[in-house]
Amino acid sequence: MQPQCYGVIGNPIGHSLSPQIHEAFSRLTGIPLFYQRISAAVSEDGADFRKTTLQFFAQGGAGLNVTAPFKDFALSFADEAAPRAQKAGAGNTLSKITDGWRADNTDGIGFVRDLERQWGRSAQNARILIYGAGGATAGILEPLLAQKPRLLWLYNRTPQKTQALAERFADDGKIAVLSSLKSLPDEPFDLIINAISARIWKDAESLWKMPTTMPDTFFYDLMYMPDDTPFLRWVKTYGKTRYCDGLGMLIEQAAESFLIWHGVFPDTTSLHSHASLIELRAFRP
Ligand code: ATR
Repeated sequence: MQPQCYGVIGNPIGHSLSPQIHEAFSRLTGIPLFYQRISAAVSEDGADFRKTTLQFFAQGGAGLNVTAPFKDFALSFADEAAPRAQKAGAGNTLSKITDGWRADNTDGIGFVRDLERQWGRSAQNARILIYGAGGATAGILEPLLAQKPRLLWLYNRTPQKTQALAERFADDGKIAVLSSLKSLPDEPFDLIINAISARIWKDAESLWKMPTTMPDTFFYDLMYMPDDTPFLRWVKTYGKTRYCDGLGMLIEQAAESFLIWHGVFPDTTSLHSHASLIELRAFRP
C-alpha cells in the first residue's frame, strides 16, 4: 500500500503531538502514512489558511487536521460538513471528497470517550459546570447534552457568548447561564470542565471560582500542556486529586479522525498507557 500524506495545520504548530499519535496508530493498524505539521499565517479572513490548505491537497494530501486558530475557517473552507461540525461551528478534520472537501469535528466525541473510558465518568445525570464559552465549549456541548446531565451550567467572562451558546444548543438540552462567578449555585458539581484558553498562570481567582464539590468531583481541562495547565495548578491548590488535562481527549479525537480517513478505529489503549503518556509529554518542539 502506498503511504498517503496527512497533516495538522495551526499556528503555532511546532508543539502538536498529532504526528506522534497518528504514526502510532499507523504502526498499530499497519496502515502506512506520512503525517506532518503545517503552519499558516493568521489573518482576519483566513486567506493564508486557505492558500496553505489548497497547496497541501494539490500536492497529494489526503486529509488534514485543523487546530487553533483555524477551526472556524475549516468549516467555511469545506464544501460539506458533518452535522456535528455544523453544530460546533468548527471543523478539526478535513477530508478530500469527489467535489471538494468535507469538514468534520471529532473533538466532542473524543472528549466524551476519554471521560468515559479513561476516567470512568459519565455526563448522565451529572451536575456539570463549564468555564469558557469559545470554540472548545461549542465542540463538546452536543455529546455532553446527549448524555442528559441533570444540570449544565456555563460561565464566561463575556456573557453574550454564554447566552448565544445556550440558545444555539437549546434543542439539545437545558443550559443554565451564570452571569458572574459570585452567583455559583450552592449545590455540588460532579464534573467541572475548563475551556478557558488561558495558558499563563496569572490571577487564577479571576478566571475560576471553586464551587461546592464532593470528594469524587472530577476536574477536566480541555487544554493540554506538557506540564500542569494553569487550571490544574489552580485545582491542586485546593488539594483536589481527581483531575486530568486534554491529552487523553487529544488521543481520542485523533482516533476518530483516523477512522474517518482510513475506515479503521485504532485501539487507543496502548497510547493511554503510563509509558506512552510520559513519552508524549516529554516532547518539546
Ligand atoms: P478555544 O477554541 O480554545 O475555545 P476561543 O474560542 O478563543 O478558543 O475561546 C477561548 C475561551 O477562553 C473564551 O471563553 C474566552 O473568554 P471570552 O469569550 O470572554 O473571550 C476565554 N478566555 C481566554 N482568555 C481569558 C482570560 N484571560 N480571562 C477570561 N477568559 C478568558
